[in-house]
Amino acid sequence: MRTTGDFDAADFAAKEIERLKTELEGKRVLCAISGGVDSTVAAVLVNRAVGERLTCIFVDHGLMRKDEGDEVMAMLKEQFNLNVKRVNAADRFLTKLKGVTDPEQKRKIVGAEFVAVFEEEAARLDNQDYLLQGTIYPDILESGVGDNAVVKSHHNVGGLPEDMNLELCEPLKYLYKNEVRLVGAALGIQDFVVNRQPFPGPGLAVRCLGEVREDKLVLIRESDAIVREEFKNAGLDKTVWQYFALLPNLKSVGVVEGKRTYCHTIAVRAVLTVDAMTCDFAKIPYDVLETISRRIVTEVPGVNRVVYDITTKPPSTIEWE
Ligand code: XMP
Repeated sequence: MRTTGDFDAADFAAKEIERLKTELEGKRVLCAISGGVDSTVAAVLVNRAVGERLTCIFVDHGLMRKDEGDEVMAMLKEQFNLNVKRVNAADRFLTKLKGVTDPEQKRKIVGAEFVAVFEEEAARLDNQDYLLQGTIYPDILESGVGDNAVVKSHHNVGGLPEDMNLELCEPLKYLYKNEVRLVGAALGIQDFVVNRQPFPGPGLAVRCLGEVREDKLVLIRESDAIVREEFKNAGLDKTVWQYFALLPNLKSVGVVEGKRTYCHTIAVRAVLTVDAMTCDFAKIPYDVLETISRRIVTEVPGVNRVVYDITTKPPSTIEWE
């Protein structure tokens, strides 16, 4: 159960590793890693207890931000020496998403395909005993434990199959998100993971309005990398809660060197919030917006217009879907 009082992350990590050494003695553990903070911290923690007996599967759905998959893999393999297998499944996901424009449908397809890929990979491994999940305390609360009303049922890691016949291992289940970040830092996990911005499970499929296609995803990845770089240059990465680029699936007329263009618009979203239930849009200095806009229209071929979303939640949401 949760204990009260000051949280000592290094102490938690040391005790949990010792406890897991006993609980998982001689056992094999399987984990779906997403590159998100919860699954990464859980995997590094368990790895300290069981070493090579932990196998991680990183399903790369091709919907992550620019270079993100490579960065996460490099960290897990080189820094932490984790036994991790990357499954490059981008084509599978894009094939399933072909022609689909309904946002909920897109989410369901990505979730189902994730489970299918994970199951196939897991089936290749023999004698697994435990499934490691990065469940955290708010997941349990929202699922309605004790006196808490059900807010939403969490199927962690996108609803992994219940018939896998594995015992569950959930070492972070009594921690809040900020505590998970502290444990991650205590374990030496790099800042780009520990302090990662929230990112939808279905990834850029959410930020690519209309049909999800690789030619559109490229525009988002490249524009988003510019947004993140310029927020960092301006020091706004420390104060703004979430910031990103998205593709509204809107083409319009522009002009370059006297010639008419008909290209995509990129929208930039940056918000201030405490809990993501409501938000205000961030009042970004015009010169930062100007640099972002100028860079995107010159560095990302296929984009001729950049807009900034100045709406609060409600009535909007943080993501456009
Ligand atoms: P909205 O768009 O509903 O988003 O205002 C609120 C926050 O939730 C994030 N988000 C997700 N996070 N899995 C997640 O872990 C998801 O499927 C998902 N969809 C939205 C969103 O980025 C924002 O921070």
